[in-house]
Amino acid sequence: MQRVFNFNAGPGMLPEDVLKQAQAEMLDWHGTGMSIMEMGHRGSHFQKVAEEAEADLRELMAIPKNYHVLFLAGGATAQFAMVPINLFGENKKADYIDTGIWSKKAIAEAKRYGTVNVAAEVTKNPLLAIPAQKDWKLDPQAAYVHYTPNETIEGIEFHWVPQTGNIPLVADMSSMILSRPVNVNDYGVIYAGAQKNIGQAGITLVIIRDDLVKDALPSTPLLYSYKVEVENKSFYNTPPTYSWYIAGLVLAWMKRKGGLKYFTELNNRKAKKLYAVIDAHSDFYINQVDVNSRSRMNISFDLPTPELTAEFLEAAAKRNLVNLKGHRLAGGVRASVYNAMPEEGVDCLVEFMQEFVKKK
Ligand SMILES: Cc1ncc(COP(=O)(O)O)c(C=O)c1O
Repeated sequence: MQRVFNFNAGPGMLPEDVLKQAQAEMLDWHGTGMSIMEMGHRGSHFQKVAEEAEADLRELMAIPKNYHVLFLAGGATAQFAMVPINLFGENKKADYIDTGIWSKKAIAEAKRYGTVNVAAEVTKNPLLAIPAQKDWKLDPQAAYVHYTPNETIEGIEFHWVPQTGNIPLVADMSSMILSRPVNVNDYGVIYAGAQKNIGQAGITLVIIRDDLVKDALPSTPLLYSYKVEVENKSFYNTPPTYSWYIAGLVLAWMKRKGGLKYFTELNNRKAKKLYAVIDAHSDFYINQVDVNSRSRMNISFDLPTPELTAEFLEAAAKRNLVNLKGHRLAGGVRASVYNAMPEEGVDCLVEFMQEFVKKK
């Protein structure tokens, strides 16, 4: 068996320690004679797994007591709908910041339930950049302001937090959660699909401030009501238990490694190494993002021709550097370097990029 360095944008690479632990516990979880998958979700064993995962998340992110943590199904895409149907209130108006493809999807969904004001859009001049907040046209009547701190497809990241005063800030943190500390108090709602930095697909984290848990729009399915999920502690129906368990293993692994301090430093080093090789050969590895808006998680670049891109991807795969192909809507190359990507994987990729450019 040979493990590869998997640069997939999601589902992403998982820590080997976690996979081994899951393997060891697969047939007999803690002497119970059964797998965690086979246990009742309301039984004491699974409840313990669920509680520990939440406690570890709260510790890692320093989540204040006035925030609820939900473990839901439906991916971040379900949150594109749950956010407006639960937060719109009577005015049914919200501000959205459009920085890329995932923002656009969130906007399209919110428009189905009310009025969306696109308060700012990514600029291309010629590089992609996040517009400064002074240029945003926020609506003082908005129920909330939604943004995407990291655009997974284009590789654009906010390195600052929007200031929205009393209007709750809602963030789709799917591709940057747990990669560095955030001040949860800055947010009304944070949500993230698990399959990048939290664990495996199937579970979605929602962190919601207590005062925002209120009645959803009429005829909202009960399962899509934050209030119902909060009242039932995410157990209104059967949650994706195995995904929750894997998330718990990942969170415990993160704590053992040294928490967000460790991962921030690791992720900064990895991104710095990749951007250094890109910048050293900027006419060959072409990054389209302004330096101040560059993502630390998804590093995207184009090569001069599609043929060279294809050759690059093929030669990289031969070196066990796989899934570097850009998103189908963006093309090019994208290296997703979430928490579980070891620095060694990035070092191998950097070495490969240096060799590849020399041969051309
Ligand atoms: C920023 C962002 N938002 C939303 C999604 C959609 O997530 P899901 O497929 O879990 O619904 C993704 C998936 O890649 C993403 O990167």
